[in-house]
Amino acid sequence: MNRPQKTVLHVVGARPNYMKIAPLMDALNGVPGIRQILVNTGQHYDEAMAKGFIRELSLPMPDRDLEVGSASHAVQTGNVMIRFEQVCLEERPDLVVVVGDVNSTMAATLVAAKLLIPVAHVEAGLRSFDRMMPEEINRIVTDRLADILLTPSPDGNENLLKEGVPAERIHLVGNIMIDTLFRHLPLATLDRVADRVRVTGGQYAVLTLHRPSNVDVPDTFRGILSAIATIAAERPVVFPVHPRTQACVKEFGLEEFLKDVQVTGPLGYIDFLSLTSHAAIMLTDSGGLQEESTALGIPCLTLRENTERPITVTQGTNTIVGTETGRILAGYRAAMRGDVSKARPDLWDGQTAKRIAAVLQRYLFG
Ligand code: UD1
Repeated sequence: MNRPQKTVLHVVGARPNYMKIAPLMDALNGVPGIRQILVNTGQHYDEAMAKGFIRELSLPMPDRDLEVGSASHAVQTGNVMIRFEQVCLEERPDLVVVVGDVNSTMAATLVAAKLLIPVAHVEAGLRSFDRMMPEEINRIVTDRLADILLTPSPDGNENLLKEGVPAERIHLVGNIMIDTLFRHLPLATLDRVADRVRVTGGQYAVLTLHRPSNVDVPDTFRGILSAIATIAAERPVVFPVHPRTQACVKEFGLEEFLKDVQVTGPLGYIDFLSLTSHAAIMLTDSGGLQEESTALGIPCLTLRENTERPITVTQGTNTIVGTETGRILAGYRAAMRGDVSKARPDLWDGQTAKRIAAVLQRYLFG
């Protein structure tokens, strides 16, 4: 078949982007007529936050590194836009693929839309209906401008239809993070992390926290860590700490609450999966971890007042417990007593990348 060559340009920026792009690049590899380019905005730049993920997930080394680094939202978004526009002008892609809801996602979408380059958004349609979250703004803007909206669950389709997105742009494809999770699960053993944590499979809790609304507000952060200190007196708690969170612990003098907690720096993808897949419970404010715990069938307490991923509550293992000490502990006791749902949402089956590749091929070649 002699097809005209089409260039697909993928954008990654922050940690949760890498595991969404990797299976898609893999699925598009070898499709006749498609040339792929990977652009790394550099929103995350620490070895453990970025480069390690690229290597572990067998992503190709990025063709372009924009090296934007950390800054205020406006500066970070602006820098991605300025540098990404140049890349688009030079590479002239036929399609830009963005994933998730980080600042890089929105910035790249704005640039492509203004250059009249079609955008495909993987993980479209999720809404927390909470504009206090910067990610919610990123989701709304990205979905408003994207041409191909690839949703992980039916609630995504419903949200987009209510916002007036034409049905023909929306494709329910499933959750691509779960492709990456299933692919790497056989490698995820506790031996890998034995040099950094002391735990027994099925006995311990894993904690992650990085949302500004939790860690930047001293009273909220203290309330969460007070519950964690109580849990840590009963069972091991492992806390791979995000750099933002680490800085806040120090600034607010909260080290005391963590004296029984096993704190590590950020972990690589497979090391982290080793920990989560053998845990008794997870406590988190991350979006991705709500999904991964559901896929793994392990209870999850979400330390927020809402979620953009309601299917993890209705068809998974997630409970929204907020940030007050008492509610977190009540949720913890209930989860440790209760039977855990082993259900998994439809299309969270490890085959999402193939479905997306098929949608993109139809779009590009008709
Ligand atoms: C970003 C995303 C968030 C995602 C998270 C995953 C936005 C608005 N937020 O949040 O949705 O869940 O990534 O980790 O896009 N820092 C480092 N090294 C790094 C990166 C960051 O030390 O490699 C520190 C810096 O102090 C920086 C802070 O972390 O100021 C916050 O980084 P930033 O990229 O602004 O957002 P995240 O909190 O990581």
